[in-house]
Amino acid sequence: MGGYLVEDARKVTTHRLIEMKQQGKKIAMLTAYDYTMARIVDGAGMDVILIGDSASNVMAGNATTLPITLDQMIYHARSVMHGVQRALVVCDMPFGSYQVNPTEGVANAVRIMKESGCDALKLEGGVEIIDTVRAILAAGIPVMGHLGLTPQSINKFGTYAVRAREEAEAEKLVADARLLEQAGCFALVLEKIPADLAARVASGLSIPVIGIGAGNRVDGQVLVIQDMLGMNQGFSPKFLRRYADLHTVMTDAIGQYVTDVKRSDFPNEREQY
Ligand code: KIV
Repeated sequence: MGGYLVEDARKVTTHRLIEMKQQGKKIAMLTAYDYTMARIVDGAGMDVILIGDSASNVMAGNATTLPITLDQMIYHARSVMHGVQRALVVCDMPFGSYQVNPTEGVANAVRIMKESGCDALKLEGGVEIIDTVRAILAAGIPVMGHLGLTPQSINKFGTYAVRAREEAEAEKLVADARLLEQAGCFALVLEKIPADLAARVASGLSIPVIGIGAGNRVDGQVLVIQDMLGMNQGFSPKFLRRYADLHTVMTDAIGQYVTDVKRSDFPNEREQY
């Protein structure tokens, strides 16, 4: 795995992530939604690949994560699985697939696991969905929790602003995090909350806490791949670091191709049979 900071070439497991927390080793997590990207992300040494329901935004162009369906998530997850050898692969359960009741939640969780072959599932919420989390865990399926800004509840929040700035919401988040750990979740995502609160949650739990917009005093970080590669110029929250400007790189390359075709410069003699 050419030159990247990968200390252990073995397949990443949920147990390995907990060991990494115990050893103070940070966990790198990134989204992917298709085979080609997943191969690149896995080859670069990612610990965890998330098939996020952010596919609804960045792959399908929807304004929220709500419209993406179970079948669409399974399609993305199966495509990603074909490209991954080492990373632990976690798939989001989409809105509506686990909120109705535990029985439906388990049936949908089993479908994702069976039809995609992914390693674990992620669900948004705390006490409100704890019976479903327990039922999915009881079926032998590893669960990652997700608290703070939970985009599937955008219509309840009404805004994508930072969550849990107020004491009451912060205390509920701390209690929900404990509940998810006690239920048996193997990790927890904290999205867009104050860094001090995230650090308090991470130091109080034995499972790893992965942050997005939650500061550096947690056990790992996650970003959406289109955002960190600079493909998505319209989205620039404070927490986002852009590692490339692929929008410019791709626009220049595609523009050059258009020019070459129109000038009859492509293909040349060496590019034909
Ligand atoms: O859907 C997603 O991409 C996510 C991450 C932002 C954590 O849930």
